[in-house]
Amino acid sequence: MNAILKPGPSPAPMHPPLHRPMGVADLDAVLAIENVCYGFPWTRGNFIDSLAAGYRCELRLGDDGRILGYAVAMPGFEEMHLLNITVSPECQGLGHAHALLERLIDDCRAQSLHSLWLEVRPSNERARALYARRGFQEVGLRRAYYPAPAGRREDAIVMSLLIPGGPPHGLD
Ligand SMILES: CC(C)(COP(=O)(O)OP(=O)(O)OC[C@H]1O[C@@H](n2cnc3c(N)ncnc32)[C@H](O)[C@@H]1OP(=O)(O)O)[C@@H](O)C(=O)NCCC(=O)NCCS
Repeated sequence: MNAILKPGPSPAPMHPPLHRPMGVADLDAVLAIENVCYGFPWTRGNFIDSLAAGYRCELRLGDDGRILGYAVAMPGFEEMHLLNITVSPECQGLGHAHALLERLIDDCRAQSLHSLWLEVRPSNERARALYARRGFQEVGLRRAYYPAPAGRREDAIVMSLLIPGGPPHGLD
């Protein structure tokens, strides 16, 4: 008996998220995300300073070109410092921060940078869990580092990830 091959439903087109450097023209959209994600958001000036300084400012985009998230990192001598990683609230929990982080780690590896540093609020359990799962270690505390409501200050936990050498993973 001859099998009759009926065409099945077409698979959904795959549009993996894209990445590109952030530019000044993106800042209205970036600030719209920033302002809903933080009680004490970065200002336009903070982003402009980072762009002007040549920091690594990367956007993660949906297939419609919408900004899903971004990461800003400052390269240093043999190390990288993650200054800002943010995902649009409606896109959280889908692995976008994980992917932004993985691309940053790949970049560090490609540049032979040995460690990635960041600060995080003790109250930001979600971010701390993300970093801990990726292997970051809590290595210090900066007292009263962050502004907090009612004029108070919040400590910062310093976390670092040692990056062994080797080829990049080539993640999307
Ligand atoms: C912290 C923050 C960046 C995390 O972004 P995110 O995109 O939601 O993070 P991810 O989706 O990559 O990982 C978070 C969760 O999704 C899960 N996840 C990871 N990869 C996944 C995937 N491929 N598919 C589905 N879920 C995934 C993780 O297990 C994690 O689970 P949890 O919520 O139970 O801990 C985001 O919540 C945010 O922007 N917060 C406000 C700004 C902020 O606090 N930034 C950090 C400052 S230090």
